Amino acid sequence: MSASYELHGSVAVITLNNPPVNGLGYETRKGITDGIAKADSDAKVKAVVITGAGKAFSGGADIREFGSPKALQEPNLLSVIKAVESSSKPVVAAIHSVCMGGGLELALGCHYRVAAPGTQVALPEVKLGLVPGAGGTQRLPRAIGVENALNMIVSGDPVKSEVLAGIPGQKLFDRIVDGDLLQSAIAFANEVADARPLPLVRELKATHANPDGYFQFARNTVSAVAKNFPAPGKCVDCVEAAVSRKFEDGMTFEREQFAALMLTPESKALRHAFFAERAASKIPDVPEDTPVRAINKVAVIGAGTMGGGIAMNFLNAGVPVVIIEMKQDALDRGIGVIRKNYEGQVKKGKLKQDKFEQRMSLLSTTLSYQDIRDADLVIEAVFEDIGVKEQVFKTLDEVMKPGAILASNTSTLDVDKIASFTKRPQDVVGMHFFSPANVMKLLEVIRGEKTSKDVLATVMQLAKKIKKTAVVSGVCDGFIGNRMIEQYSRQSGFLLEEGATPEQVDRAVEKFGFAMGPFRMGDLAGNDIGWYIRKRRYLEKPNMRYSKTADLLCEMGRFGQKTGAGWYDYKPGKRDAIPSTVVNEMIEKHRAELGIKPRKISDEEIVSRLVFALVNEGAKILEEGIASRASDIDMVYLTGYGFPLYRGGPMCYADTVGLFNVVQTMKRFQKNPHDDASFWEPAPLLAKLAEEGKSFS
Ligand code: NAI
Repeated sequence: MSASYELHGSVAVITLNNPPVNGLGYETRKGITDGIAKADSDAKVKAVVITGAGKAFSGGADIREFGSPKALQEPNLLSVIKAVESSSKPVVAAIHSVCMGGGLELALGCHYRVAAPGTQVALPEVKLGLVPGAGGTQRLPRAIGVENALNMIVSGDPVKSEVLAGIPGQKLFDRIVDGDLLQSAIAFANEVADARPLPLVRELKATHANPDGYFQFARNTVSAVAKNFPAPGKCVDCVEAAVSRKFEDGMTFEREQFAALMLTPESKALRHAFFAERAASKIPDVPEDTPVRAINKVAVIGAGTMGGGIAMNFLNAGVPVVIIEMKQDALDRGIGVIRKNYEGQVKKGKLKQDKFEQRMSLLSTTLSYQDIRDADLVIEAVFEDIGVKEQVFKTLDEVMKPGAILASNTSTLDVDKIASFTKRPQDVVGMHFFSPANVMKLLEVIRGEKTSKDVLATVMQLAKKIKKTAVVSGVCDGFIGNRMIEQYSRQSGFLLEEGATPEQVDRAVEKFGFAMGPFRMGDLAGNDIGWYIRKRRYLEKPNMRYSKTADLLCEMGRFGQKTGAGWYDYKPGKRDAIPSTVVNEMIEKHRAELGIKPRKISDEEIVSRLVFALVNEGAKILEEGIASRASDIDMVYLTGYGFPLYRGGPMCYADTVGLFNVVQTMKRFQKNPHDDASFWEPAPLLAKLAEEGKSFS
């Protein structure tokens, strides 16, 4: 049962009951239209109240129906709203907690609306690359005014009911009620039971004093902010239609925009990311009801670049943290950085002074392992050296209380080996944060061979608490993200050898939508990190071909922004990347030594080589079971590597291009004498899917 019907005297109450947020799935929609019909034909009934059970009035469409024929099965939402509007008896929406998307559109079709304060009201469709599709863009401007409505529709952000009720002349809420919402709504329904004609939002007018000027301004603003997304601009068009067209024509226009946007790659990408994020939080063989361990105190080992940021995540979430270091001055320096970071937020008005003090009061420091032994979780962020990690984990094994989770933030080392330094490998897990750790959304959770299920469940739950997007990765060199980026970096080096410049590569990749191209990224992160890793790889994988340009750059001491020079030149204290003559000469010299005659490489080739390098490695990662789903790989790239959201991640992008086309392009690259033919050997999974005409999703 997903909507119930009950009589309260002469008022019929229809209660949406489709947990968790009363999504308007088929059964719920049918429940509403059946309830309205029943009330209409019952002479005893004078009025109807529609409300929601549990945690919401309604969160809108039922996402479980997304993309399935059931979503459109009659009565669809438009028909439901029509039935409500046509009811011969007044229908009152009793709104609480969450009233979003289709939920708000349903409420706008009711004759009256009473709401509890604190209700989150929104039309969030734009966040999925869509416009509201059941009259939201036509009715909301009529209820709260054109500008207020457009702000909500274009941003998709929720606004509290009491704020909306405060808009002068608004017709959205007839009453805001404290206390028992249902009883108040029934009382209100009794008050208006005999009032006729029944008020309809559609009959109001949406007006603006200067529509041409205003919509032009709105269009300019939207195109500047949302340049790669078509939906916000379409939201403006729809709201303009609410002003310039008759209601029914505006509805038709909205419907057309909705249908057209549904087919755009941008909306597909946003919907993909929406579902990918939800999917990533589930681990196939770890049931959702797996008991979790209580985490009331966290210890962080190492107060360096990562340790400080990691600690801040927990302080922000109200969890006490103790940081341990080898020397007092390292500790002081680390705490100083945390303090400065918070002070910066206070100065910018992003953090209140009392919150800052509260967070700092949760932080303690020590030089002794005795002071961390009662922590429930310890995260190691010491030097990336297996010997140092061995010493730390052996000590942790001795001192930590039984049941404590022992996590490592290692970015390349073998988590199984780290676990083997302890007598409790089941408690060991990788928690790979990204720099800056207090800002970046991604957390790769590295599942060791022996990591227990409850440890995984605990870490996944904790990730939500500290507002990270957690993606589980198996153990391999570089895990999901860095293992793939390695291939992308190798290709970017080959491109330099063949004729491209760092700025051309960066420009092409940034035009594709990446936040930063590979060379600007290298300068930001420090080119020495890759150098250090490559030196290890030269020994481990002597047959793997790398371009030497990055090594030559490091030999020149050009580690990036931190040394004032990298792939680019930098003016003191500035971060603007200036193309470097010295670097270009170094590349040309190296190219000449290799006997390569430079050629003009198109932006399209640059992007395909870099992105397909990610895709091919991603396919191997998937096949080996390092990632459970292609969409997990996309989440890693969207939240940790600046991959453009409107392209949905590398695997989603490959699906959009078509795997057959991806493989054909890779085969073309194989013929390039200066590239590495084995590099472009399609991963068996990719070849198979392409052959069968299938996609990663
Ligand atoms: P860092 O060099 O900035 O900091 C390491 C800190 O650990 C230093 O303050 C050092 O004094 C302390 N330390 C070393 N041995 C210790 C011991 N035995 N006991 C207590 N403290 C000790 O290094 P960073 O960049 O913070 O890296 C730490 C770990 O995080 C490494 O495993 C690294 O691979 C990983 N990582 C680094 C990222 C980055 O962008 N820097 C990104 C993701 C992971």
